[in-house]
Amino acid sequence: MTFSARSPAKVNLTLEVGAPRDDGFHPLRSVFLRIGLSDRLTVREWDGERDRLTVSGPVACPVEGNLVLRAASLLRQRAGLPLPPLEWELEKHIPLGGGLAGGSADAATALALAATCWGVGLSAELRLELAAAVGSDVPFFTSGAPAALVEGRGEQVRPLPAPAGRPGILLITPPFEVSTAAAFARLDTLAGERDRPDPTDELAAGLEAGLDPDDLVGWAERLRDANDLWPAAALLEPALGDVRGALESGSGRAWLMSGSGSSLFSFYPSPDEAAEAGRRLAADLSGALARARLYATDLAGPDPIWRQP
Ligand code: C5P
Repeated sequence: MTFSARSPAKVNLTLEVGAPRDDGFHPLRSVFLRIGLSDRLTVREWDGERDRLTVSGPVACPVEGNLVLRAASLLRQRAGLPLPPLEWELEKHIPLGGGLAGGSADAATALALAATCWGVGLSAELRLELAAAVGSDVPFFTSGAPAALVEGRGEQVRPLPAPAGRPGILLITPPFEVSTAAAFARLDTLAGERDRPDPTDELAAGLEAGLDPDDLVGWAERLRDANDLWPAAALLEPALGDVRGALESGSGRAWLMSGSGSSLFSFYPSPDEAAEAGRRLAADLSGALARARLYATDLAGPDPIWRQP
């Protein structure tokens, strides 16, 4: 039997980062939001000697070290049964190194698909344990929540409702990647306490009370500077500041960075308005940005309503 599922990407609306813990990880407080850009993962048992993964689609992605294989292998180990090799096919649409957690989204889907394919039970506790072992962003995706307040290293996930209605997001991934590990390490070298209130709790309360698309657009100015990794990412990749400047002057809106970058995004009252703004921006992009990927999406997906290329 063949099983297939989509893995949606996320953006971070806020990202508060504390001082590193003894294990090197940083305590986080972040509002995660699932978006309508996703990979597709398919699995079946096969008679090969070991698990196999093939990747297709518009985004190139290495097989070596892929979190899909890691998630399946952890589940097999934990099940303690001689479970047969799996053949995976990953159709990759979510850019790598873009702060969208595509690899983690795929890992969460892989855990669920492997359990189904093998017919092994996966309790909520075991799912969370395996998810956290694969990576810090994976528990958000295994929760299945459309949005969440994420804390700890990433394993504490409090589900939140998505905004009401159908807000649009215009997302741009520049043609360079930012390493998450490098961004956290660079942040540790920057002195200084944050000197402004963090909007994470207020935003979480707002989502719980119900935000509509116009409310979300209205939040953008405050969320623009609510990602603590921005200074580190902008130092690692100086073009990021220029890109944000060009997007903000071209669109007249605040642009937020997701995770450790390099993706930047902005809210619109509808996906159609995001797409229209995307077309206008695309006509003006030059230099390195001419090779950027642009997406206009809603929050449900599975696919953007407009993309370039
Ligand atoms: O957990 P994951 O492998 O996705 O994290 C990638 C890197 O990001 C870690 O190796 C670590 O350097 C950094 N990180 C962190 N604190 C977190 C999450 C990630 O320092 N809460």
